[in-house]
Amino acid sequence: MKKFWFAFASLTLASLLMAAVSEAELEKKMKMAGDGMGGIRKGMQASDMKAVAAAGKMVVEGLEGTESFWSARHAEDGVKYTKEGLAAAKELVSAAEAGHADHAKAAAAKVGGSCKGCHDAHREKLPDGKYKIK
Ligand code: HEC
Repeated sequence: MKKFWFAFASLTLASLLMAAVSEAELEKKMKMAGDGMGGIRKGMQASDMKAVAAAGKMVVEGLEGTESFWSARHAEDGVKYTKEGLAAAKELVSAAEAGHADHAKAAAAKVGGSCKGCHDAHREKLPDGKYKIK
């Protein structure tokens, strides 16, 4: 019985530690996505499709791999927002690389919709300006 509890406690601890790591990882990825979105906005204003494509790649990188964070939490909507945002970000990159500003703009709006959808559902701003995952 003692062995059982030890194994149980180690497993619980291990899963807690794993969750902590992926939250930190998510935050890092989100910051990258946020920087990417800023770059897209600036690139659009300057009609610089090369800059838009480069910033779009940051958004792709920021979202890539985060889907598993949400599937591990059984947050189906989070998985959906991530997939949609990722698809739209890839669409934005190829449109910008082809120099199609209107198409890139439409794709950027779709990307923004996925970010906002998930933030409304799963992000809570704390009084100190930090974010909490819900
Ligand atoms: C499936 C859910 C989801 C999607 C999609 C999503 N986010 Fe987030 N985002 C979160 C959560 C939850 C937090 C709060 C926890 C954190 O900071 O990691 C967050 C935090 C952030 C932060 C604050 C990071 C910090 O802690 O300083 C930025 C910036 C951000 N997201 C940008 C974006 C952008 C840009 C997109 C779209 C390209 C996006 N996010 C898409 C869930 C999501």
